[in-house]
Amino acid sequence: MTVDKWKERLPRRRADGKSPHFGFAPAQRAALRAFAATDRQSLQRHEPAEFARRQIRVLNCNACHGELDGFAKLDLIGLKLRPEWMQLLLAGYIKPRPRPWLPHRMPAFPARAKPLAQGLAQAHGYAPRTVPEPAAVNAKLAEVGRQLVGVDGGFSCIACHGVKNREPLQVFEAQGINFAQVGARLQPEFFLRWMLDPLRVDPQTRMPTYFDKDARSVLVDVLEGDAKKQIEAIRQYLLLGNKMKIPVMQ
Ligand code: HEC
Ligand code: HEC
Repeated sequence: MTVDKWKERLPRRRADGKSPHFGFAPAQRAALRAFAATDRQSLQRHEPAEFARRQIRVLNCNACHGELDGFAKLDLIGLKLRPEWMQLLLAGYIKPRPRPWLPHRMPAFPARAKPLAQGLAQAHGYAPRTVPEPAAVNAKLAEVGRQLVGVDGGFSCIACHGVKNREPLQVFEAQGINFAQVGARLQPEFFLRWMLDPLRVDPQTRMPTYFDKDARSVLVDVLEGDAKKQIEAIRQYLLLGNKMKIPVMQ
């Protein structure tokens, strides 16, 4: 576009030389008049998902996320993590860090942690606060979950996942996040989807798939070999967080 063409687009002075003339069509003028008659609150409306998108650009989060190996992409992160947990992470409060094996550290953004975390969740239709669990942790089911993640008669998940102060048994494989931290992190729907087929969620992951296409488990004697029931038992166990008992690790 030439300079002259740009000039044509600038507001022209009206004949009286005071107010600029924008060249609005009649319909645009009518819309402006209608807007001027409102309380103009819509100009200040806070749109959380848009806020989060903007902040990710402004703060250059993608310099790490989506670029470096082993880093979560942020476009789907609101489907995975609970907003309360993201808020604590963004504020710099999560200790120890979930992935101590990564050479980089997540910087803290305390002033923006809350609206950013809520915006990331709301971008996927989640409420700014996680819906509370319908009931307290089911202790019997959690005990089944503990057996399922352990070695003897379980899936040996603890080969890769630490539990509280216990290191995973085979860190050299592909380390997962310590189980004591997982319950507070994950949205329940994500947990189910991940457990049924981790590769569908993350084609690069080295976490094995434990259940077949018909949601059946090889451990046929536990909860009727029903994958979803076994996954829920593991979830109940993980919800115990730091109160969880150590599973059988040898
Ligand atoms: C210097 C690199 C770097 C930058 C910049 C960065 N992060 Fe991170 N982020 C990390 C690292 C490293 C982790 C993993 C920390 C861990 O798990 O121990 C992480 C983890 C996260 C997680 C949790 C992901 C998960 O699955 O556990 C979220 C959410 C996140 N970052 C959001 C952001 C947002 C939003 C921004 C910008 C405001 C941002 N990060 C900027 C390095 C970075
Ligand atoms: C071969 C190693 C390995 C085994 C065995 C394994 N996992 Fe994983 N798991 C991983 C890796 C790698 C990740 C992704 C880590 C990351 O996000 O940085 C993961 C992620 C997870 C997550 C998501 C955690 C979060 O907070 O983001 C859950 C839940 C999980 N695993 C549960 C299990 C359960 C339950 C078992 C046993 C049935 C199991 N894993 C067995 C390697 C393993």
